[in-house]
Amino acid sequence: MKNKYLVTAALPYANGYLHLGHIAGAYLPADIYVRFKRLNNEDIIFICGSDEHGTAIEISAMKEKVTPKEIIDRFHFANKEAFEKIGIAFDIYSRTSNEIHHKTSQDFFLNLYDKGILLQKTEKQLYSEKDKRFLADRFVEGTCPICGYEEARGDQCESCGSNLSPLELKNPKSKISGDTPVIKESKNFYFPLEKFQPKLEAWLKTKTNWKSNVKNYCEGWFKTGLKDRAITRDLDWGVKVPLKDYDGKVIYVWFEAPIGYISATKELFIERNIPDKWKEYWFGKDVSMIHFIGKDNIIFHALVFPAMLMAHGEFILPENVPANEFLNLEGGKLSKSKGHGILVKDIVKDFNPDVVRYTLASNLPENKDADFSWDDFQTKNNNELAAILGNFINRTTVFAKTKFDNKIPERNTNSDEIFDIIKNQSKVVAECMDNYRFRDAVNETMNALRAANKYFNDSEPWKVIKEDKEKCANIINNCLQICYSAAVMISPILPYTSEKILKVLNADKNNFSWDKIGEINLLSGTELGDNEILFPQLEIKKEEPKEEVKIPEEDMIDIDYFRKIKLRTAKVIECEAVPKSKKLLKLQLQVGERKKQIVAGIAEHYKPEDMVGKTIVIVDNLKKTKLMGIESEGMLLAAKKDGKLALVLPEKEIPDDGDVS
Ligand code: 2FM
Ligand code: ZN
Repeated sequence: MKNKYLVTAALPYANGYLHLGHIAGAYLPADIYVRFKRLNNEDIIFICGSDEHGTAIEISAMKEKVTPKEIIDRFHFANKEAFEKIGIAFDIYSRTSNEIHHKTSQDFFLNLYDKGILLQKTEKQLYSEKDKRFLADRFVEGTCPICGYEEARGDQCESCGSNLSPLELKNPKSKISGDTPVIKESKNFYFPLEKFQPKLEAWLKTKTNWKSNVKNYCEGWFKTGLKDRAITRDLDWGVKVPLKDYDGKVIYVWFEAPIGYISATKELFIERNIPDKWKEYWFGKDVSMIHFIGKDNIIFHALVFPAMLMAHGEFILPENVPANEFLNLEGGKLSKSKGHGILVKDIVKDFNPDVVRYTLASNLPENKDADFSWDDFQTKNNNELAAILGNFINRTTVFAKTKFDNKIPERNTNSDEIFDIIKNQSKVVAECMDNYRFRDAVNETMNALRAANKYFNDSEPWKVIKEDKEKCANIINNCLQICYSAAVMISPILPYTSEKILKVLNADKNNFSWDKIGEINLLSGTELGDNEILFPQLEIKKEEPKEEVKIPEEDMIDIDYFRKIKLRTAKVIECEAVPKSKKLLKLQLQVGERKKQIVAGIAEHYKPEDMVGKTIVIVDNLKKTKLMGIESEGMLLAAKKDGKLALVLPEKEIPDDGDVS
């Protein structure tokens, strides 16, 4: 019998904000599971942190012209806070840039190296002479050899999903400078995944309780045949390869990131002042390790990381990898790269985080992609949380308040059938939780609450009180006890609401555990706390989608047409008003070595003296023309709207004769 749990949730990249897709994919099911196990007094730790290496982060930094450190700090702290706000209660939220992680990954790497497990290959790589660096993964873009998509990345084509290597791209270009790279040799390490296939297959055969979506993915890969994987890269940002002669190389992010689970466990127990305790979890045969992830991470958690752990030899292997599919938003994909996800940090500002948790949990993409919609969100709040859970708690406590002096009335029988119903239902929910069927767990939890409402209705306390106050006291005592059971039962899914119910019941959290469900836990005579409406009605106004402003087809031009227009920067060296014209100014321009005169209709907006010294943008290859008899050899660029006019100027200093494109 295993008696410890080590639960991990995928380390999110620290280069974007968390959205609901992330939460539904990995973090909410993990959190519900951990909370449930904690309620059962299991020995469990819950590990997560930011994944802070990889070319995606370096590229974000490059785009923003900041250091990678600035990017990871920004998103690490923002995501940590978002997790806290939505009630995802990790024991630790670490980061892979921490020293302890670098050391742990390097030791892991060296362990395999010393055993002679790693392969070394000298291979052709793309190198940019201009950027003076190798172009790994996302540092290069080009045409996908499979589908022809022109912006495929060096590691993957986003259009057809194929895994690629930079050398497979047609017309590769540096993401940094646009430079066309050359081919240069470089020596890198490989993990011999192919050799591990038989062992992995045999191991996975023993995992009869794994979800079929996960098993199917793995079987697909087995069929194609696992390939050895490069585990070092010619990059600066990352965990350095801990060997001489490997300067300028780092361990591939997907090799070191899962080792982050080990580093974070070490860090957790350092924080708790029992620094050796991490070993109990990573070496103990009595530990169930469970990786919660989204489906795009299956290969790494179900195959690559287990193979790494097998190769290392000392660590336990995962007991389960209950991966979820994707969550779509109103029919489209909730993906951060597409930028139209709902961000956690935003939704928790506007709404009760438990309503978000509930809506997601009752519709998790457990076996197939699922959909989040605002309509559903509103329905879940109004028709389920408010109508079933909120209603039961409210009608019970209001009854006690008005008819029993706001106290828990005396009970005079020991039990009632409703307790058995609730207790049985808690077993059904537990069975769902244990088998990672969280949608069913939510549904069965609500069924318990439906039964509670039915008990209230069938018992008709509002009638009974008129004839038999003692009997009524008994009913309300029962209902209050069920409120307590409800607080326990919902707490994995709705932790904030559970706390609120305890407050209303004036009950403390001592002895708060799953086996208390369906028991008598509250003392008669206890004064109740303030009642509150747990789920106020929601009415989410939908923004009418704005009519898309489209440019008519006949107005569209192609790139060659645009390239014919030579836009250049030019410096205004002289400027004067055109006599007898309200609108025109005559400008003398310097365009590199050349001088040029243009006439522009800007006199109502700029005085001649304002213009001198400005670097403006002109159409340089416009045929000569005459305006009020004055020759004009070009045209300047200005933006115009609602009677306002503003010159289009370079955003920072740039010499004249600069090409504008
Ligand atoms: O897909 C992702 O967001 C990765 N950063 C997940 C890493 S999980 C683990 F291996 F660290
Ligand atoms: Zn493709």
